[in-house]
Amino acid sequence: MDAAKQKVHEFWDEASCGEHLYLSGSEKASYIEQRRIRYELEPYIMEFAGFKTARDLDVLEIGVGLGADHQCFAEAGARLQGIDLTQRAINYTKKRLELFDLRSNLQIGDAEDLAFGDREFDVVYSWGVLHHSPNTQKAIEEVHRVLRSGGVAKIMIYHKWSVVGFMLWARYALLRLRPLILSRFQDETKRGRVSAWHDHAGLIHSS
Ligand SMILES: C[S@@+](CC[C@H](N)C(=O)[O-])C[C@H]1O[C@@H](n2cnc3c(N)ncnc32)[C@H](O)[C@@H]1O
Repeated sequence: MDAAKQKVHEFWDEASCGEHLYLSGSEKASYIEQRRIRYELEPYIMEFAGFKTARDLDVLEIGVGLGADHQCFAEAGARLQGIDLTQRAINYTKKRLELFDLRSNLQIGDAEDLAFGDREFDVVYSWGVLHHSPNTQKAIEEVHRVLRSGGVAKIMIYHKWSVVGFMLWARYALLRLRPLILSRFQDETKRGRVSAWHDHAGLIHSS
C-alpha cells in the first residue's frame, strides 16, 4: 500500500464512518438504531440505492463502512459482495449480517484494484467512498471494468461546494489554520475529472 493509501487506511481504521456518533454497542438493537438514524438523516439514500430492485442481481458494494446499506441489499435478495479498505469496517458489516442472519461475501479490498474479473456485476454501489481514495479516477475505471454491459454504477461522492464540503474544510483546513488548502479531491473536481452537483454528487451510470 502506498503512503497516501496508508493514510486513508489509518484514518478509517481508527473509527468507521459514524461509529462513535451512531453505533452505541455491538448488539442487534444498536445496529437497528444506527440504521434508523442513518435513513432519517439521509432519506435520499433509499431512492438512490434502489435496494428493492436488487433481487437476484450480482451486486458489489465498495466501502461498506458500518454496513447499513449492505444489510438492505442483502435483505432485498441480491447476490452480494462487499469490500472495504479496513478490517474494522468488514468486521462491523460481518457482525451486522450475522445478527440479522443475512449473507454476503465480505473481504478487505481496494477500490483502485478490485479483486474481481471483468463484467462480474449488474450493480456496483458506493456511497461516500471513492473521493477518499487517492486515485479516484482509477477507482472509477475499476468500477467500469467489473460491470456487465448494461450494468449500473451507483456512486455518491461529495460535492466541493456543499454543506458537507464546507464542514470538511472547516474541520480539516480552517481549524488546522490552513484555510487555503484544497484537498486532492477538490483539485480533481476543479479540473473537471469528477462531475458533481448538489450537496452530494450522486452519479448513476449505465455501462
Ligand atoms: C465515509 S466512509 C463511508 C462508508 C459507508 N459507505 C457509509 O456510507 O457509511 C468511507 C469508507 O470507504 C472506505 N475506503 C476508503 N478508501 C477505500 C478504497 N480505496 N477501497 C475500499 N474502501 C475504501 C473506508 O475504509 C471507509 O469505510
